Amino acid sequence: MSSSPIAQLAAWLKEAEAREPSEPAAMSVATVDEHGQPSLRMVLLRGLDERGLVFYTNLGSRKAADLRVNPRVACCLHWKSLARQVRVEGQAELVSDAEADAYFASRPRDSQIGAWASKQSQPLAGRFDLEKRVARYAATYLVGAVPRPPFWSGFRVVPNRVEFWEEGHFRLHERTNWVLDDGAWSSHKLFP
Ligand SMILES: Cc1cc2nc3c(=O)[nH]c(=O)nc-3n(C[C@H](O)[C@H](O)[C@H](O)COP(=O)(O)O)c2cc1C
Repeated sequence: MSSSPIAQLAAWLKEAEAREPSEPAAMSVATVDEHGQPSLRMVLLRGLDERGLVFYTNLGSRKAADLRVNPRVACCLHWKSLARQVRVEGQAELVSDAEADAYFASRPRDSQIGAWASKQSQPLAGRFDLEKRVARYAATYLVGAVPRPPFWSGFRVVPNRVEFWEEGHFRLHERTNWVLDDGAWSSHKLFP
């Protein structure tokens, strides 16, 4: 095990990138709405450093609405090929505009147009309505760089608990739980 859960997660992610055939950066994110109702969806982990785990999304989406009223969040990464799981709990905060701009600029042009066209999580009458919006924004941004939509950005999950799970023989799995206390990480093992 590493000296911090972030270093450990980075190491496992690197192995997953080599061995997991599909979407090694896929991560589930659970949020809770103002009534206490949890909801869960997959996102892609697009940034990882000592500050936390970053994913990008539409700020009009259900998850973003939840995070505005309750920034507490739980995430889970699972790599079937490695028989490993990582659970993360913490608080989500918006990334800086500069960070979101830089990531948005790195995306394929069609994804950038798609970000403008999608009113993520709002009702859609039919596929044609989406296609019309895609055509409209493709025309608007026919030439030159596509700017980041003001309603699209990233969230950084600042962790306070990270658990690593690795499959063991006869269900005697290896579990290591990291907890942040007074700014310092400590780890202990858990029964499987
Ligand atoms: C593998 C995978 C990766 C995804 N990555 C993202 C992502 O990075 N950002 C995002 O907003 N939605 C992503 N989605 C779609 C979300 O799961 C979800 O449908 C969408 O964000 C709307 O969620 P919400 O209504 O809870 O806000 C992904 C879905 C899958 C299956």
